[in-house]
Amino acid sequence: MAKRTYTYEPKCVDEIIIRPFAFEFLDDLDPVWVPDNPYRSHLFNGLSLTIPYLEPYLMKSTKRAMAHISEPELLKDMRGFNGQEGLHYQCHRRLNELLKANGYPELAAVEQRLAESYNRLSQKSLRTQLAYNAGFETMTNGFTHWLINKRTRLFRGASPHVSSFWLMHMVEETEHKTVAFDAYMAYSGKYLPRAFGMFHGPLHVLRFGLVGMFTALKEDKLLSRRRHLMSALREILSMTFHVGPYLLRGLLPWHNPRCEGDPQWMKDWVAGHATLPAGALLPLVDTNSAEMPVPFAAAQIKQ
Ligand SMILES: [Fe+2]
Ligand SMILES: [Fe+2]
Repeated sequence: MAKRTYTYEPKCVDEIIIRPFAFEFLDDLDPVWVPDNPYRSHLFNGLSLTIPYLEPYLMKSTKRAMAHISEPELLKDMRGFNGQEGLHYQCHRRLNELLKANGYPELAAVEQRLAESYNRLSQKSLRTQLAYNAGFETMTNGFTHWLINKRTRLFRGASPHVSSFWLMHMVEETEHKTVAFDAYMAYSGKYLPRAFGMFHGPLHVLRFGLVGMFTALKEDKLLSRRRHLMSALREILSMTFHVGPYLLRGLLPWHNPRCEGDPQWMKDWVAGHATLPAGALLPLVDTNSAEMPVPFAAAQIKQ
């Protein structure tokens, strides 16, 4: 592909920091980790199922793209992106193993389909892959704002381990929100393939996430009545309502993720994490709190 002129622009965060995901999930973790809400629990569990297939694929295509990019700042971001995604998927894999062991072995069949699908996606052109990645990461930014801004509604009383893990993952997604977009713009920059990726990436991941969700709900015998389906639909619509506007903005020809602001809670989390001693376990968000502040004392004092 002919090289286009690309100029790197400064991003919102100074540096993409690779942090250990020092969570210790309990062996008897209840897959219905949002109390009395198997629908929301399984929606997030279904999405978690996709990550150990999605993120290694993102890393591979990002690495391939690095061979075509010369901008040192962007190359540094891409290394940071791969470093973060590499730790995300390993932690999701640990969580997913517990979900299967603790009542949902049939999720393994969904994982098999995911492996095959990402294998096929890896055969596509690099431009298609980078557009997919940019589209997926645009959706992720919507997830970040949804999960962080609505955390007290989504995770009230829920497992502090799983809630804290999802929130930390989303904080880091925001930190690297410009990278997949920049990689696409540096490699191609053409609008139409990027617009296609805005559907391709998100719909592909959501489809498998919902297959995982409904596989678990079927196991729970929660698909047999209309009210069950309505409860599942309510969670899916809530996700669509909160994340959809990010995808619509992502379709604008002048879209640039730099223009999307970051939640204050994310900035406080990053500042608080910097005060943690090396090797410390990650402190957990208090899901019984009405505010659910960031779980770092120093950052809370500063607020
Ligand atoms: Fe990630
Ligand atoms: Fe990401």
